[in-house]
Amino acid sequence: MDHSLSQHPPAEPASLTSPDLPDSGAPRPELTLDPEDWSKVRQSAHRALDAVLDYQMHIRRRPTWQPVPDSAEDLLATPAPEKGLGADTVIDDMLEHVMPFPAGHAHPRFWGWVCGTGTPIGMISDMLAAGINASSGTFNDAPTRVEAQVLHWMRDLFDFPEGASGIVTSGGSVANMIGLVVGRDAILGDFVREQGLAASDRRPAIYASRQVHSSIDKGMQMLGLGLDNLRKVAVDRHYRMDVEALERQIEKDRADGLAPCAIVASAGTVNTGAIDDLEAIAAVARRHGLWFHVDGAIGALAVMSPNLRPRFKGIELADSLAFDFHKWLYVPYEAGCILIRDGDLHRRSFRVAASYLEPPPRGLGALVDSSNIRGPQLSRGFKALKIWAQIREHGLEKLGRLHDQNVAQIQYLAELIDHETRLERMAPSPLNILCYRYLPTSVPEPEWDGINAEILMRLQEQGIAVPSSTRLDGKFALRVANTNQRSRREDFELLVRESVRLGREIEAEA
Ligand SMILES: Cc1ncc(COP(=O)(O)O)c(C=O)c1O
Repeated sequence: MDHSLSQHPPAEPASLTSPDLPDSGAPRPELTLDPEDWSKVRQSAHRALDAVLDYQMHIRRRPTWQPVPDSAEDLLATPAPEKGLGADTVIDDMLEHVMPFPAGHAHPRFWGWVCGTGTPIGMISDMLAAGINASSGTFNDAPTRVEAQVLHWMRDLFDFPEGASGIVTSGGSVANMIGLVVGRDAILGDFVREQGLAASDRRPAIYASRQVHSSIDKGMQMLGLGLDNLRKVAVDRHYRMDVEALERQIEKDRADGLAPCAIVASAGTVNTGAIDDLEAIAAVARRHGLWFHVDGAIGALAVMSPNLRPRFKGIELADSLAFDFHKWLYVPYEAGCILIRDGDLHRRSFRVAASYLEPPPRGLGALVDSSNIRGPQLSRGFKALKIWAQIREHGLEKLGRLHDQNVAQIQYLAELIDHETRLERMAPSPLNILCYRYLPTSVPEPEWDGINAEILMRLQEQGIAVPSSTRLDGKFALRVANTNQRSRREDFELLVRESVRLGREIEAEA
């Protein structure tokens, strides 16, 4: 057997090679951005790869966050050079002045906002995706098949029907927006795409709870639906949408001549991780003929855990479902997703005629279901590769166990806080988010917000940990969102100890 043949790709046909222009370092007549000496680039690339793997491996020893020092500020503010500096200088600058000073999302004590940690396989995938410079979803190639398979897996994970479609997005904000676009067109009618909302004689109304994420407000603004037409429904004491209040509002709006269009439920609210009653809200949507969108940016992927899955009952009924891989699948930024139950409605909202994009029967352009007819972008990066690789390396079962671990860590933090008389939990923590505050003893309550804000800044500035903040019923809260695959219980113990230490210190200074 000829092993050399079986192990190497077939040689290029002689007529397609260019023997006069070898990649050997000989001077070339045309300009190119490729290196003259590939072996030098290989060395530089290995150096950068080693440095970034060291960064990940030893990240626990670093401060969670550190401000950008003057030396880096100066370097980063230099003007664009007229003459190139060469790859080695640029790589040195990246390693010295950029890599050490990110926000710190990869750190085991980063719990601010809702930020995933990233993984080595995700990083390698992004490098490969950039290396082949793939534009995903519009060509008859392997990257398109990878994305199709990721969407297929997600469709199965969420029990969506076979005719469902989807697209990998930059994140939850764009996924939510796509869901709203399809819902708007499906319920209000084709005239919106053709003549615009101005052609309607009735104001559209979209419903969500008061805890809904601001990306929905932004979507209302951007899609011409209008912020005033986002009806924010009251929540119960668990911060879940009050479903009776929702139905009353829909009925009132209809009686007042508005055009109720869609309900947005949250599968994990940004403030407290509350999961709306998805089944009940789906039933309201069905009764009133409305689009049912679920913003699962934070929580939805926890259905991978058999323990957590029952909490999301009703998610499979969504007309559109947004979620984020860069949050609770721990893939590096950026990657989100939208699934649409009715794939035809999805494509109808984004299909436009363009002769230069018509798919031929064969060849590279022969792709009937281009991502161009499922979202706002034409050219798109190959984000699906890191999702595909992450799921294949670790498997759904282990990822589900990590979700369990994150939730258990938050329960552990809750216990620690409940045992600490100087700290108070401020809301239920049904999932992976916890809000708390320090209870000063020497100053009146109106001053507590300021002291807690100072605790937050010192936790961050001293590199201890990065929680973020929010307000619950007007009160300032320190907020921990755990989508971190590197955190350990001892990290939460440190957070509690340091919150109390800093609280006492600030009180004493006051
Ligand atoms: C509930 C919720 N929805 C949507 C988003 C927006 O997601 P992204 O930041 O990926 O655009 C977030 C972000 O934190 C969120 O928490």
